[in-house]
Amino acid sequence: MNLESTINQIVANDQTHAKWLNTLSMMENSGARKISASEHPTKVNLIILKHAAEEARHAFYLKKQLSKLNHTGCEDYTYKNLLAPVQSYQYLHRLDTHLSRYIQEKLNLSGYELRYAAYLLVTYAIEVRADSSVSYTHLTLPTIYSV
Ligand SMILES: [Fe+2]
Repeated sequence: MNLESTINQIVANDQTHAKWLNTLSMMENSGARKISASEHPTKVNLIILKHAAEEARHAFYLKKQLSKLNHTGCEDYTYKNLLAPVQSYQYLHRLDTHLSRYIQEKLNLSGYELRYAAYLLVTYAIEVRADSSVSYTHLTLPTIYSV
């Protein structure tokens, strides 16, 4: 099954579509929370604040789209309101854990320096993957995503 047919199958049913949007919102919110958790207690710069705010905004935007669907539930991020909840919750955490271990072994960092280096590497890995994995230009997004 390819990406387009998978997405078409998900959005064909409002309940599944709502869970998918809620899952993406949860993952964006997890990113915002991880960024904030990686911050130094006092040395917080504009770039990190902007990034955390952007991820929180993505979570908000995806959650807001739920009101355009005919569905029930999805008021929170509990398992029953998500698609593949265990994998979705673990995705970012596992990536962060693996990269933190790698940095710890290679650079012998700890504390804030380790958290900040892991933040940078996780962000880089996600951006590289987003840029290189799939071309989405041929996909027709459902009209609910229009701003
Ligand atoms: Fe995001």
